[in-house]
Amino acid sequence: MGDHAPVSGPVPWKRADHTGAKHDIYRRYLERWFPILLAGSNAYPSATYAEGFAGPGVYEGGEPGSPIIAIQALLDKVRDPIPVVKMIFVDDDLRCIDTLNKQLTLKFPTRPRSAETLRVKVKAGTCVERLEPELDAMQAWGQPILAVLDSWGNVPVTYRLLERLARNQSSEVIITLGTQSFIRFVSKLGPEADEVFGGDPSWRQINTMATGQAKRQHILTCYRQTLARAGFKYLLDFELIDTRGESLYLVFGTNHRRGLEKMKDSVWEVDRVYGVGFRDPRDEQAQTLFELIDPVLAPLARLLLNRLKTAPPSGMRVEELRNFALFETVYRPEHVIRTLADLRADGRISSDETRIFRRSMVRLAG
Ligand SMILES: C[S@@+](CC[C@H](N)C(=O)[O-])C[C@H]1O[C@@H](n2cnc3c(N)ncnc32)[C@H](O)[C@@H]1O
Repeated sequence: MGDHAPVSGPVPWKRADHTGAKHDIYRRYLERWFPILLAGSNAYPSATYAEGFAGPGVYEGGEPGSPIIAIQALLDKVRDPIPVVKMIFVDDDLRCIDTLNKQLTLKFPTRPRSAETLRVKVKAGTCVERLEPELDAMQAWGQPILAVLDSWGNVPVTYRLLERLARNQSSEVIITLGTQSFIRFVSKLGPEADEVFGGDPSWRQINTMATGQAKRQHILTCYRQTLARAGFKYLLDFELIDTRGESLYLVFGTNHRRGLEKMKDSVWEVDRVYGVGFRDPRDEQAQTLFELIDPVLAPLARLLLNRLKTAPPSGMRVEELRNFALFETVYRPEHVIRTLADLRADGRISSDETRIFRRSMVRLAG
């Protein structure tokens, strides 16, 4: 499924462009996540990094896979003595398990931390069957868990696990979702596909939709709702698009505003060498944001105008729109005032003051 190696293809496989960008985001986020949880004044005694679809830890061209990136981020950012860090890597392909074990020895020939403070487990099996029992066995619950569920896009994960993670102390998920197989096989897929959406079959309404774009958006919306129902208060979802137009949809769920802000920072800082752009799944024109230094603000302008349509006649406070951008779009709060100033210069909105501040009120013009 998806744009990667077929299940029966070689291990390791060639790294797709958007995988490079995805790894860059993982690394940037983990370099923030580990120190916040483990090195700050409110450090937790332990935290767990869990992957349900770990892969072989290396790509055909020698690039590191996500398990290696995670361990390296920990070593680079949290110095000894560290609290206990547990890592669990599950994959159902024995070739991946074997290659990952070899990569771990190759990349970390001497144990970088004591066996007590860094516990790394590699387990063969499906995510559904192995991940939760391993988290139980490692006594991960009750302390923060970051679960990276990077399947080929079909997300074979139980809803129960998502709910359990959402309820667990300071826990977060990063999930990869592909829409192609859901769209292509909608009439063939059985209840296991509904389970991806928490048992809700609404995603099947794509059957009645005319365009690929509408179907894609519907699936993404359903998935976002699934994570919200599972209990994640804040979600950040976006598509990574490579130069060939292939896209990968990532969803991040957390219960902490700071987690959301840090993930958003990681996404906007992604290295441009990958030539990968972003798209906000809610932008009606599906415009790709390739230039991140000088971001394309047109999609945000459209989203803000839409939001203002439902505001009272007095308008909305800019601070509220900043929160809207943080919680409901791929944009950062810092992008909002600039965009509003442009919209005002174009006569699309009005405000009471000559400059736009966080406390200003803005409304649709006319
Ligand atoms: C996209 S790759 C993972 C890439 C890896 N996370 C990385 O970024 O380096 C997906 C992996 O999931 C494994 N896989 C597929 N279905 C699985 C399942 N049901 N349970 C566990 N692993 C599965 C495949 O063998 C493959 O290694």
